[in-house]
Amino acid sequence: MSTVDAVDTAPAAERHALPDPGEPVPKLALPTLGIYLGAVAAFAASTSAFITGVVPFWVTILVNAAVTFVMFTVVHDAVHYSISSTRWVNGLVGRLAWVFVVPILALPAFGFIHIEHHRHANDDANDPDTFASHGKTWQLPFRWATVEYFYGSYYLRRLRSRPVAEVAETGVLLTASLAGLIIAILTGNLWTLAVVFLIPQRIGIVFLAWWFDWLPHHGLEDTQRSNRYRATRARVGMEWLFTPLMLSQNYHLVHHLHPSVPFYRYVKTWKRNEEAYLEREAAISTVFGQQLNPEEFREWKELNNRLGRVVPVHMPARSSATHSKLHRIPVAAVDPITADSTMVTFAVPEELRDEFRFAPGQHVTVVTDLGGVNVRRNYSICAPATRAQLRIAVKHIPGGAFSGFVANTLKAGDILELGTPTGTFGTPLDPLNRKHYVGLAAGSGITPVLSILETVLEIETESEFTLVYGNHTKESTMFRIDLERLESRYADRLEVVHVLSADPLHTPELRGIIDAPRLNNYLSTTLKPDQVDEWFLCGPLGMSTTARDTLIEHGVDPDRIHLELFTGFTTEKKKPPTDYQGATLTFTLSGSENTVELAAGDSVLEAALQVRKDAPYSCMGGACGTCKAKLLTGDVVMDQNFALGRAELDAGYILTCQSHPTTDQVTVDYDA
Ligand code: FES
Repeated sequence: MSTVDAVDTAPAAERHALPDPGEPVPKLALPTLGIYLGAVAAFAASTSAFITGVVPFWVTILVNAAVTFVMFTVVHDAVHYSISSTRWVNGLVGRLAWVFVVPILALPAFGFIHIEHHRHANDDANDPDTFASHGKTWQLPFRWATVEYFYGSYYLRRLRSRPVAEVAETGVLLTASLAGLIIAILTGNLWTLAVVFLIPQRIGIVFLAWWFDWLPHHGLEDTQRSNRYRATRARVGMEWLFTPLMLSQNYHLVHHLHPSVPFYRYVKTWKRNEEAYLEREAAISTVFGQQLNPEEFREWKELNNRLGRVVPVHMPARSSATHSKLHRIPVAAVDPITADSTMVTFAVPEELRDEFRFAPGQHVTVVTDLGGVNVRRNYSICAPATRAQLRIAVKHIPGGAFSGFVANTLKAGDILELGTPTGTFGTPLDPLNRKHYVGLAAGSGITPVLSILETVLEIETESEFTLVYGNHTKESTMFRIDLERLESRYADRLEVVHVLSADPLHTPELRGIIDAPRLNNYLSTTLKPDQVDEWFLCGPLGMSTTARDTLIEHGVDPDRIHLELFTGFTTEKKKPPTDYQGATLTFTLSGSENTVELAAGDSVLEAALQVRKDAPYSCMGGACGTCKAKLLTGDVVMDQNFALGRAELDAGYILTCQSHPTTDQVTVDYDA
């Protein structure tokens, strides 16, 4: 396995980084809620005014067409979870608005179709919205007017892969809409229904397809995957008119770059990052359709050097500690994740920040005293390496001393001994990379993969990540909400495939476990091994080793497979202790040298611990790599090694917990 290098890539990073939109998802987007309530009021007023004969039919048609248009903006923000940081609020408000737009598909079904548009924008083969943005000019009005029926056929073709609940919700909504239409016909109210909904909705749909699909995307040759800055355009000029009229879709490019930004913040986001977008040659046209390259735009605006700010990428740096060192660290927060897992966040003091920096995928050793017993566990860090936040997730194990303590006793303010981060599960990141990574994780195996996934998406703005994540049920899925948030934020670059073993309502094709038959199926269909650059495997031993073997059978280079094991391995020695010999061990730890006589059968670590209690270790099973040291003289054999990669072995590193001397004199250096 490789390590993450803190290379000096700042200039390149600044060129390629996706600028920070600077607009977090609000607790509650009041403008979005406001236009929803305003649209409901307008619909109610114009409908009752028509029914009571106060206004002519065409007034109601125009008002209710505007309602359809406005309601779609509410729906659009709901499917991107930008109405509220409280997830269910988006689902509720989105559904309430959706009935005014296209009540023949469930909101989640539309969400799926829309996210496919984000992933594949402008790609004729895969983008559902090219139906409305491409085509002969004379066809366009017909395409715009029938776009939801195309969505329906697009959805039908993928029905088997969709969740049962989503399909069922679509069935209910479609049935209810058809029933409403039939009742209106049978009761002689078809004209009223047409004026109040059918005609306005058709007009609204035409404008939506025109303004959301055609105006931002037509005529651009790039796709989201080939160049996300040039698969969608911004239309500049006359913002005073077009921004309120189009509800900010004149800056649709901002939406494709930052899908979680609420619609009313597009222009602000554009202004904040304008120079960064121009550096990436973003597609721009004037409101009259004149295409502008960045220079022309600068001239056009006469605002060179006035707006925008590039936010540089902060490459994660590794711990400054030479080996894992224990420090007493206060707990900042203890939060439940699922019914049987807990997140622990640490408050690392300022003076130890450098020692506790970590690379994505690394882990820490946690030590505490439980009833007089010194308990030592190893946990992967489950935060992106770009944040100064150290947190771990602890899965409760029935009867588990430490996990039970975390679930029932540990609280903010308590002190735990925490080792500085170690481990090599990861890969060097580079903002210029354009890679496809795949994570195969099960249960708590998500923790290091989540750290890698988040860091990759933040740093490598052209790379993609596919996560196949196995769990029992939706409810037992750790970080489910975080993953949904990330999917929404990185809609075009992150795909999460949930495999559930105990959820009878889950998509049939994804019911079960991540085993060899399922992987064989993926690798022959959607996850083409030759299109994946690196694989990250973490979960129970059986899953991880099966996955590794299956990948190799499919021709994946073992060097591209990163494997992290922390449970389920044997610690039995392969050979009886009598095969080992005694030796004189000299080791360097934290700058000082010790010499100790190592008894036959003892490991290098066991000997070192006789004279230095601070010798680093955690799992004692060859999996975590915490006990790593460099062999300087002599020779050893290792019982097992699940932690060191080829490069580290070639460089002379050993796992001291697994190493037994085969020479009389052995010298190792923990600081190297
Ligand atoms: S202590 Fe975990 S590999 Fe040695």
